[in-house]
Amino acid sequence: MNKLATTFTGLEFVNPFVLASAPPTESKRKILKAFESGWGGVVTKTIGLHPVENVAGPRTIFQRASETKPYVSRSKRPDTVSHSSWNWELISDQPLDVWLPELEEIKNTYPDRMLIASIMAGAGSEEEMDNWRRLATACVDAGCDALELNLSCPHMDRKDMGAHIADDEVIIRSILEAVTGVVTVPVWAKLTPATSSLVDAARVAYDAGASAISLCNTFPSMPLMDPETMKFEVEVDGLVSSGGLGGLAIVNQALQCVSDLSRAFPDQPISGIGGIKGFHEAFNFIAHGAGNLQICTAAMEEKGSGGVGVKLIQELKDDLEDYLTRKGFASLEEFRGIARSRVVEHSQIRRKSENYNGGYEKSA
Ligand SMILES: Cc1cc2nc3c(=O)[nH]c(=O)nc-3n(C[C@H](O)[C@H](O)[C@H](O)COP(=O)(O)O)c2cc1C
Repeated sequence: MNKLATTFTGLEFVNPFVLASAPPTESKRKILKAFESGWGGVVTKTIGLHPVENVAGPRTIFQRASETKPYVSRSKRPDTVSHSSWNWELISDQPLDVWLPELEEIKNTYPDRMLIASIMAGAGSEEEMDNWRRLATACVDAGCDALELNLSCPHMDRKDMGAHIADDEVIIRSILEAVTGVVTVPVWAKLTPATSSLVDAARVAYDAGASAISLCNTFPSMPLMDPETMKFEVEVDGLVSSGGLGGLAIVNQALQCVSDLSRAFPDQPISGIGGIKGFHEAFNFIAHGAGNLQICTAAMEEKGSGGVGVKLIQELKDDLEDYLTRKGFASLEEFRGIARSRVVEHSQIRRKSENYNGGYEKSA
């Protein structure tokens, strides 16, 4: 029996580890290599209908920290450890008509692996809703098992796309309804952590037909400036724009987001993303309620793997299997959500004395 097998949004995963939408899933070649290496599923790099042109410089940098000189930087120094990725890459530059036959071939080659298409269009008009519908039906007709709606890219100028729509319940509902109205496969909604109304956004998405919430996308963030050169560590012609932070540095914040959703909607599926580098992080997402795990930065960082995390997936599978065996668990369902009831309000945490009062005087 395969103890790693999981059912998530009705889909059978041979293991719960999925490559997130990003460079590791940007082409047929990489996705085939990922499946050959053992990943249970992939979410494709986000597919759109309009051509994109990336910045005239690096799209992604990998930041590292060291104990001797503990500043965070992309610069190469001895004894450093991974801190984060920072990127300002746009969605896929490969057009839909190139993607479609490739998706079909990938699915035919690996029928037992889950192929999820990430898609994105605009909002605010029936034409844009038709763009969502067109992308959705095309990818499903090509054989995709599910869709993930990118409602969270942190570097869009258009105000009706990506992370900008985080607080717009009308737009979130309209996109979900447009897509779920034309396909029958599970539809996952990928949200941004950059909002104080995450739970409201998730409520609307679930209510409008989302089978799962995927989170987190990267956190909107600035690259660092070098004090000596006074240049940003990534820039074009001295200029920079908002990008996204991923990798280990975001794991605690991503867990907070997953915890918030998991406590608000304990029975609803969550695909956990953000800073998973090995079993410890994966365990934590599952403990907070995630039933599926997505990984990007750690796979990109693995040297010699072509950016798809060949050793990483083997380690993740081995470590989860070993853990389940040692604990006598039949599957991850036996410990999924165990952290949920242990996250409480501050007032419920024991104090040294009875005089807590929440940091303010209680009225008489
Ligand atoms: C270079 C790069 C490109 C990305 N492109 C996309 C994208 O096209 N669509 C999307 O939904 N997320 C995209 N992401 C976000 C990742 O899917 C993921 O949510 C994020 O990196 C957090 O996971 P991690 O900490 O494992 O990297 C991208 C991330 C990186 C680093």
